[in-house]
Amino acid sequence: MQLSSFMQSLGLKYPLFQGGMAWVADGKLAAAVSNAGGLGIIGGGNAPGEAVAAEIKTASSLTDRPFGVNVMLLSPHVDEVVAEVLKAKDKIAVVTTGAGNPAKYLEQFRAANIKVIPVVGSVALARMMERSGVDAVIAEGMESGGHIGRLTTMTLVPQVVDAVKIPVIAAGGIGDGRGMAAAFMLGAQGVQMGTRFLVAEESKVHPTYKKAVLKAKDIDTMVTGDYAGHPSRVIKNPMAREYIKFEKAEAAKDHPNYEALAELGNGSLRKAVLTGDPKKGAYMAGEISGMIKKEQTAAEIVHEVCGQAEQLLGGGH
Ligand SMILES: Cc1cc2nc3c(=O)[nH]c(=O)nc-3n(C[C@H](O)[C@H](O)[C@H](O)COP(=O)(O)O)c2cc1C
Repeated sequence: MQLSSFMQSLGLKYPLFQGGMAWVADGKLAAAVSNAGGLGIIGGGNAPGEAVAAEIKTASSLTDRPFGVNVMLLSPHVDEVVAEVLKAKDKIAVVTTGAGNPAKYLEQFRAANIKVIPVVGSVALARMMERSGVDAVIAEGMESGGHIGRLTTMTLVPQVVDAVKIPVIAAGGIGDGRGMAAAFMLGAQGVQMGTRFLVAEESKVHPTYKKAVLKAKDIDTMVTGDYAGHPSRVIKNPMAREYIKFEKAEAAKDHPNYEALAELGNGSLRKAVLTGDPKKGAYMAGEISGMIKKEQTAAEIVHEVCGQAEQLLGGGH
């Protein structure tokens, strides 16, 4: 597969990122994706610096290839996490960021030769990030699993491509080589996939949660947290239904108690990943779940998706 000069500069064989999913994307999963030629990304989430450092150490022991870390800028531990990333600068090619502006850390990352790639859900945010001096953006559509924006990948990616000069990576609803090829047609230089890697053999996601992804049909995801302004895509389960019921009841009140709602959602992804409990766990996953039918190794996923895209593109890209 022919890579853009930006993707080549990251040292990748394939322009495929594995999303840095909180609680899910640990050093083992990231290393497996990087060993297959993609970019594995450790999900920093709200974890303290030492926990992220341990995952960086695991990934470093399992791969000699570059990998990345997703830094959640709203995490109370963000400064510690950034410090740990900078300590491992020889291994870490990329930092992706969610929820916030990475401007404060850009100079340090640049000096460490780490590329900074924020996730954006709108043209305005993409432009703002470009002005801040980031290296590329991940344009993520609302088909995706986890926290989402308002636009679809099909509409967002070409508009962001037209609006900025830096490279654009497409995310949200990409589950196979057809999706990857389509993203290139929209002007993206690479793709990021999350949901498909949830069910990778190397993923630590609880078997009950994995089974829910594998069994899901096209219409089996829903969006929670919309009223409170933090929409999140999850697979329908008792926890999601309970949350929506509570959310709708609060929204109908003059003074909605969104704090109580946040309390209900607190730690729900962690519970899903570690215990699989459908009553307490948020099975975050994207609309692409309906296409995912089997557990495979990360290498099988990377090779299958990129092989199919290459075939469809006739050797281009
Ligand atoms: C369980 C789960 C957790 C996620 N956590 C994060 C996160 O912590 N930070 C982030 O930037 N993106 C996060 N994402 C988004 C992914 O990194 C990726 O961009 C997205 O899953 C792509 O869309 P897809 O699910 O349709 O493949 C998460 C996604 C899922 C499914």
